[in-house]
Amino acid sequence: MENFNKVKRREFIKKSGIFTAGTLFLGFGGSNLYGAFEFAEIENSIPFVTLSNNVKMPILGFGTNTLMGPVCIQSVSDAISVGYRLIDTAKIYGNEEFVGQGIKQSGMNRKELFITSKLWVDDAGYESTKKAFQTSLEKLGVEYLDLYLIHRPRGDVKGSWKAMEELHNEGKIRAIGVSNFNPNQLNDLLLNATIKPVINQIETNVFCQQHISYEFLKNTNIQMEAWSPFAAGRNDIFNNQILKEIGEKYQKSVAQVCLRWLYQRGIVAIPRSSQKTHMIENLNIFDFELSKADIKKIVALDVDTTQFPEWE
Ligand SMILES: NC(=O)c1ccc[n+]([C@@H]2O[C@H](COP(=O)([O-])OP(=O)(O)OC[C@H]3O[C@@H](n4cnc5c(N)ncnc54)[C@H](OP(=O)(O)O)[C@@H]3O)[C@@H](O)[C@H]2O)c1
Repeated sequence: MENFNKVKRREFIKKSGIFTAGTLFLGFGGSNLYGAFEFAEIENSIPFVTLSNNVKMPILGFGTNTLMGPVCIQSVSDAISVGYRLIDTAKIYGNEEFVGQGIKQSGMNRKELFITSKLWVDDAGYESTKKAFQTSLEKLGVEYLDLYLIHRPRGDVKGSWKAMEELHNEGKIRAIGVSNFNPNQLNDLLLNATIKPVINQIETNVFCQQHISYEFLKNTNIQMEAWSPFAAGRNDIFNNQILKEIGEKYQKSVAQVCLRWLYQRGIVAIPRSSQKTHMIENLNIFDFELSKADIKKIVALDVDTTQFPEWE
């Protein structure tokens, strides 16, 4: 990874973007390239997508759910040191302070980072959203967020959205979006919004591929972001025989196959790891291309069901 020639990689990704546009999506229900992916380019070795408000976001980032205390601090710092710039947290994870300390420990310039947090359901509503946002900023130890999401479509979503629009207009959030919204819930928000959500962060992995949301988000130019890209290890994903066989062909791991598949769909992914070797492995997905035949095999793994029924 560290020795990878950046110029070569830039050429490869440009080619792979064109290839993807011309072939991969045609067979899977979409005749158009996922809009944001067209603008993928290299900065810090990770391609960027351009959101509908023109803010650029890394297509691959680092998730922090369940990381707590010193492990969280070290993991965030390690992730930044190996090349991650997008860091995803949320009030409900209870780790914003640790994430903030990890960011500080990394020594990385704030402007180089893309920090996401999320508004929890207990804070839904206009006034409480403003308060919760301020608390998140203070816990993270930052002056602004790059992305703030409504975590779940519960409670006074419209009130929350109005507050987020104002915070965005005041320059305190660069981009606002949602998480776990289905197309109907998004349509409802779109009818009432002055500012369109730029992102929907939803569970997306080989077992829960989200084809309906994918098409809806592509058609409404809302970037799709995958949470639990490895289904958090459920369904024995890392020992899945099909994924293993595909990986062997490219000399890649199951994790890399999963992330490459999301990348070729133009979806932002935020894998979590507490191990530096895994963090590096998960970044090393830009030097191979899954074939159409292999993508078909992955598409066949879809059971179109959440791997987290307890959260429904
Ligand atoms: N918006 C929402 O409602 C929502 C919900 C859930 C999650 N999220 C976000 O999405 C992020 C990612 O999802 P997640 O945390 O549920 O799980 P995940 O990223 O799908 O999977 C994490 C698991 O995979 C393992 N792993 C990572 N890289 C690996 C590799 N290369 N080889 C083998 N194992 C590997 C990790 O173990 P090691 O630590 O040992 O590497 C960990 O057990 C979260 O952290 C959070 O930021 C959002």
